[in-house]
Amino acid sequence: MEHIPVLLNESIDFLELKRDGIYVDATLGGGGHAEKIASLIGKNGKVIGIDQDEEAIEKAKMRLAEFEEKIEYVHDNFKNLDYILNKLGVEKIDGILLDLGVSTYQLESPERGFSFSEKEANLSAPLDMRMDRTQSLTAYEVVNKYRESQLRDILWRLGEEPFARQISRKIVRQRERSPIKTTNDLLQVIKSATPPKYRFSRREGHYASKVFRAIRMEVNKELEAIEEVLPKAIGFLKKEGRLVVISFHSLEDRIVKQTFKSLANKEEPVIKILTKKPVLPTEEEIEKNPKARSAKLRAAEKLT
Ligand SMILES: C[S@@+](CC[C@H](N)C(=O)[O-])C[C@H]1O[C@@H](n2cnc3c(N)ncnc32)[C@H](O)[C@@H]1O
Repeated sequence: MEHIPVLLNESIDFLELKRDGIYVDATLGGGGHAEKIASLIGKNGKVIGIDQDEEAIEKAKMRLAEFEEKIEYVHDNFKNLDYILNKLGVEKIDGILLDLGVSTYQLESPERGFSFSEKEANLSAPLDMRMDRTQSLTAYEVVNKYRESQLRDILWRLGEEPFARQISRKIVRQRERSPIKTTNDLLQVIKSATPPKYRFSRREGHYASKVFRAIRMEVNKELEAIEEVLPKAIGFLKKEGRLVVISFHSLEDRIVKQTFKSLANKEEPVIKILTKKPVLPTEEEIEKNPKARSAKLRAAEKLT
């Protein structure tokens, strides 16, 4: 299934594209946002498309073939933005977009181990969840090697999972008998650790979604990467350059909000916050694309 870009028009509006501008799409994914940016800038404009998932880059290349001359593809973690731009010889940029989290392609590729759906195709999916398949830490390591207290903390803090204690205890008991190898093995453990009332009464998605999300965030060190990239991104912006961040998790949004605040409230402010409150998708967008439900967009402009 194709990844539908979230808050597309809103992010383009906040980027205030310039014809010859240099833009970074730090989360290229399916190339939805990049396609729009590339179609609106002139032939001297540039999009630097970064993704730590090599498969995403290959897919995006196909989708963006007609804009080949305007796009530079980089397979790397966006936390290395300074290294990436220095290597490309780019000193300043006009705007940068971060559309955080995972793409539909990643979620729906069973062999990547992100999916908790009980479809036949997913039953033997390995516990992987790496966006960058060259890194060594996988969900298998987290689930089978982390201490019970570490697991509990991850499920509670990153997943906001109310049954974090029960699930982490069950994981440890289960793996003492035999390793938890597949996404289905993990699903069965979550099932056995949570009451049926909880599993069947969830209005917001699947009962395993919080645990899977928490483990994914740990495997990919998602919060750490955001903390690292934001100051770097702002540092590279030209005067009046724009930073747009779309987040899907309250902890991500908190990092963005606090970083923006601290830079905007300095004695000599570095940025101006353009979104007093986060911009949310409209009901219409959520209806068309339920994955947009938890999205929050914040934008800022560089002042100096
Ligand atoms: C929500 S998708 C982006 C979708 C894209 N905006 C579109 O419209 O098609 C997020 C993408 O960012 C990538 N990603 C997440 N964290 C990253 C990081 N720290 N460095 C580089 N890429 C990252 C993921 O691999 C995924 O492909």
